Amino acid sequence: MDYLLTEEQKMLKEMVAKFAREEIGPVARENQEKGIFPAAIIKKAGELGLMGIAYPPEYGGAGMDYVSYMIAVEEISRYCASTGVIVSAHSSLAIDPIFRFGNEEQKKKYLPDLCSGRKIGCFALTEPGAGSDAGSTKTTAKLVGDKWILNGTKHFITNGAEADIAIIFASTDLAQKTKGISAFIVEKGTPCFNVGKHEKKLGINSTSTTELIFEECTIPKENLLGDLNKGFKVAMTTLDGGRLGICAQALGIARASIEDSIKYAKEREQFGQPIAGFQAIQWMIADMCTEYEAAWLLGYRGSLMKDKGLPYAKEAAMAKLKASEVASFCASKAIQIHGGYGYVKEFDVERYLRDAKITEIYEGTNEIMRMVVSSFALK
Ligand code: CAA
Repeated sequence: MDYLLTEEQKMLKEMVAKFAREEIGPVARENQEKGIFPAAIIKKAGELGLMGIAYPPEYGGAGMDYVSYMIAVEEISRYCASTGVIVSAHSSLAIDPIFRFGNEEQKKKYLPDLCSGRKIGCFALTEPGAGSDAGSTKTTAKLVGDKWILNGTKHFITNGAEADIAIIFASTDLAQKTKGISAFIVEKGTPCFNVGKHEKKLGINSTSTTELIFEECTIPKENLLGDLNKGFKVAMTTLDGGRLGICAQALGIARASIEDSIKYAKEREQFGQPIAGFQAIQWMIADMCTEYEAAWLLGYRGSLMKDKGLPYAKEAAMAKLKASEVASFCASKAIQIHGGYGYVKEFDVERYLRDAKITEIYEGTNEIMRMVVSSFALK
């Protein structure tokens, strides 16, 4: 489907594919097995302009568009879904809200370091009692003099351990639920702001997923991001873009599953011929390719609409819903095609399935995606 891309997007795709194949692929399995955060790769990604692709050069970004951002996340995730979500959570969940809702001072202060990858960002909305029901946020922020005082615990935060800059959602008026939530920028090293428990996970094991704990944590008044009590809109708008990032991550996993399966099917001989000669295998590959391309087109449409400034919440939800289910489908079929070899760690396809599952859950479960889509359909 490269014919849909501009020359600049094709060049970016080629550049990121080479970087991912040569530098991310060779270390992906070991990093995942040992739970190592790929710090050197993220540094290099920053040097290549991949940590702030869709943001203007005046803020340190690469000045490209969201389609380009999705292309990069897919190419990276083709080799390592962990690295894909590190880039995606950093870009679409931390840079994006500062770029869209920050004042000029905040943009100048935070964006150049984030867009260059010198600093890592994270987005902290989820809490133990506020997952899908994000409006039930119990973390509070109280204005005392010219400081905000934060109390509460966020959990399941991607990049939580490494993030230098965290976007935190806290209630500034508990009685008002979604209409009483505000967004804040909190810097690493702020006293009484600590990283808590690190989760052990099924997949994406090169990423950190942690608690962030605030105990009478004091931040400057000017670290309010956007308007007071308008933080839920900041969160929802940000997640629309984030869902496209997860769609791209899922597409990368699906493509890895397809490419590895085709290679294996051509090499593996049974009954005196490569298994690619059997219709059972051909049909699985046909279904995987068809599903992948359908999901890719939904993702492309969503990012194109975002680039054009059109409303795209429904399209982002559809894209993430479809791509995440396609990733799990393709990874599962890839294991089937690999047979017993697919179930052992000698091949990468078992990792693809473990990595795929989370794309059906984070940045809004697929049940929430269906709620979003149906709310538009039934309007
Ligand atoms: N864009 C802008 N505004 C939006 C919006 C959107 N996409 N979606 C909702 N809103 C607005 C509504 O218009 C409404 O505004 P008004 O009050 O002015 O009418 C307001 O937000 C509240 O909307 P709802 O009444 O629909 O809110 P709700 O409490 O019923 O929740 C929900 C809606 C869609 C279920 C929402 O809670 C949701 O998206 N939940 C999932 C949360 C989620 O995705 N969490 C992921 C965490 S991040 C993560 O996984 C990160 C990681 O580290 C990788």
